Order: sequence, then C-alpha cells, then structure tokens
Amino acid sequence: MWNKRGDMRIHERSPFNAESPLGALTDDITAVDAFYSRNHGPIPELPIARWRLRVDGLVATPRTFTFDEISTEFGVHAVTATLQCAGNRRAELADVRDIPGEDLWGSGAVSTAEWRGARLADVLDAVGADRTHGAHVCFEAPDVSALADPPQVYGGSIPLAKALSPEVLLAWGMNCEPLSRVHGGPVRVIVPGYVGARSVKWVTAVTVTDQPSDNYFQASAYRILPPADDAGSVAPGAGIPLSTLPITCDFLSHRDGDRVPDGLLTVTGYALAGDGRDVARVDVSLDDGRSWHQAELDQPRSRWSWRHWSLTMTAAPGPLRLTARAFDDTAATQPESAAALWNPKGYANNSWPRIHLSVG
Ligand code: MTE
Repeated sequence: MWNKRGDMRIHERSPFNAESPLGALTDDITAVDAFYSRNHGPIPELPIARWRLRVDGLVATPRTFTFDEISTEFGVHAVTATLQCAGNRRAELADVRDIPGEDLWGSGAVSTAEWRGARLADVLDAVGADRTHGAHVCFEAPDVSALADPPQVYGGSIPLAKALSPEVLLAWGMNCEPLSRVHGGPVRVIVPGYVGARSVKWVTAVTVTDQPSDNYFQASAYRILPPADDAGSVAPGAGIPLSTLPITCDFLSHRDGDRVPDGLLTVTGYALAGDGRDVARVDVSLDDGRSWHQAELDQPRSRWSWRHWSLTMTAAPGPLRLTARAFDDTAATQPESAAALWNPKGYANNSWPRIHLSVG
C-alpha cells in the first residue's frame, strides 16, 4: 500500500496510518518506503500541472505560484530533518489511562529524510511579508478530515519568526526523489524541530496573520489538555498548542521482551532534540534509573536530525531492565514516567523508554 514495505505496522488503511519498522530507523536517513505515514483524511491527488500555492494575508503583494515558479525562482535548498509525530509512543500513555478514539502508536512514528525545496523565508520575502504586524504563518491543504465536526481541510500554523528561519522548506524532494503523493507531493511544508503536525502536506495556501490558525488541527487538536478535560468536548483554544519537540530518545536495536545471549551486548537507539537545540548526552541505566552509563553518540547529519547512540555492556544471564534518557544542550532532560505526562489526547510522550530483555 502506497509503496510501503510489508513490515510497516499499519494502524489504519484509510486514512492511511503506518509506523516505521524499528530496524529501518537505525540508518541516518530513512528509506521512503519505510518512512512513517500519518494522515487525517483521504490522500488527495494533486498533479503538478494543477497544483497552485496561494501566498497572501499580511503581505505587500499576494501571489499564486505554479510548481515551476516555486521550484525554479528560489534556488534549491536541502535540509536533513527528522519528523516525529506528537502521537509517537501514545500506547505507553494509554497503559496509564485510557485514551479513547486515538490510534495507539508505538515507537515508530519518527523518521528522517533529506528534504529539498525552496526556503519558505524566500517566498515570504518575495511577497513582502509584513514583519511588523504579522506574527504567524498559516498553512492549508485540500485533504478533508472527518475528525473535525463539520469536516474540515487540514491546516496549522507556526510563528512568523520560525517561518523565516532558513531550515523551513516548501519541499518537493525527499531523499533525492520527487516528493511522493503519500508524503505530501507535489509540495509540503517541512518545519524541522516542531511536531510533525505542522509540516503540512499538499500545501496550497500560506497566509501571514496576526493570530494562530483557527483550523481544527491547530485550535482543537494537537494541544495538551488538562488531564481532567474530556477530549471529545473541548472548546477551540483550550489547552496548550504543540509546537517545538521536547528532548527524547528511544531504543532501536531491541524490543521489549527480546531474548539475547549472555556476554557482550550492544544496544543502540536514537535521540532527538527540539527546535534549535542539540542532543548533548544519552545515558542508559541497567537498574531502573539508580545508576547510569554514558552512551556513545554518533555525529548527526544536521542539527535538525536525530543522533544515533550505542552502549556495549556485559550481560549476565537473567532479566535485564534497560532504561534510557537524553539531555539537550540546555540540560533539559526527559521525565521518568509516562504517568507524569498523561494527557487526554495522548501527545508528546518523551518519558524514559524502558525495555526488558531476557539474557541467556
Ligand atoms: N498534512 C496534511 N495535509 N494532512 C495530514 O493529515 N498530518 C500531519 C503532517 N502533515 C497531515 C499533514 C502529521 S500529524 C504528521 S506527524 C506528518 O504530516 C506526517 O508526515 P508523513 O506522513 O510524511 O510522515
């Protein structure tokens, strides 16, 4: 389905929602056929010849761009960036307390690609974005989601300051291939360092405003609600909108419940820091967090991509409980338990990942 590998973990066929197999995430760049896929409605078909991008709002000269114009007038910029869905590891939150109505994603809603496209900043400069009165940049796409009542097209917004940063792209290329339809082709937004929800696929409108988008996926979904709220009946604007990613890490080499031989054991994983921050350190604990061993960190491909890490230990026969935590360069780290983070929609679980192995 959608040219994905057979070992993707499919949550839903329509809308298409599938997690990457963890083994595919050990490479710096995730192959397109293993890259996770998160959709809220049917995937639209937008041939390049018909695709248009309207750029308007608080700008001097609103303009509608064709694909040729977007892809030739602003140069080609490449950014290697990790996308992570805010619902990654929701299943662990649901173990704490029920999260009705949401897919229970495991650890595979994260992937990295080399994206190519125009800088959104250059396009905003070309139309004369008003930097005095403009504060947000809203995106809209044609895919209609029945999650909103009444159904609504997908959209969202980011602060104008982020939109003007060089890493934010209107991308038409992914891993040196034209951007595929399932990943937002012909053109999508890529917002490195932010939750995946803001990287709007099939983008057809960019509007500079003084307020965040009132689209359902900005005003009602992708928000951290107070734990006592009922996710089904909250008013738009309730809770805290998700934007930058919190520091996180996870295991990739092993899954919970794996059996391994005793002796030398190497565990590997990835760590990812949010907007403008770097991963500074990853620790692994063999005793549930009472003591820690510092892992080796690989060099990242870019400051917007994950860093893989590894630790080699001698594993004695018996049960082995592994825990990990990452720090970013401001010394922010991960909370210990999913219970500390539980929220009604099950977003942003960056608690310590834990796996239990049987050795011998
Ligand atoms: N853009 C549109 N138009 N429709 C969507 O449903 N899903 C968002 C974002 N952009 C979405 C979208 C979410 S929640 C995520 S995590 C990323 O796309 C996933 O991108 P991918 O499917 O290319 O991995």
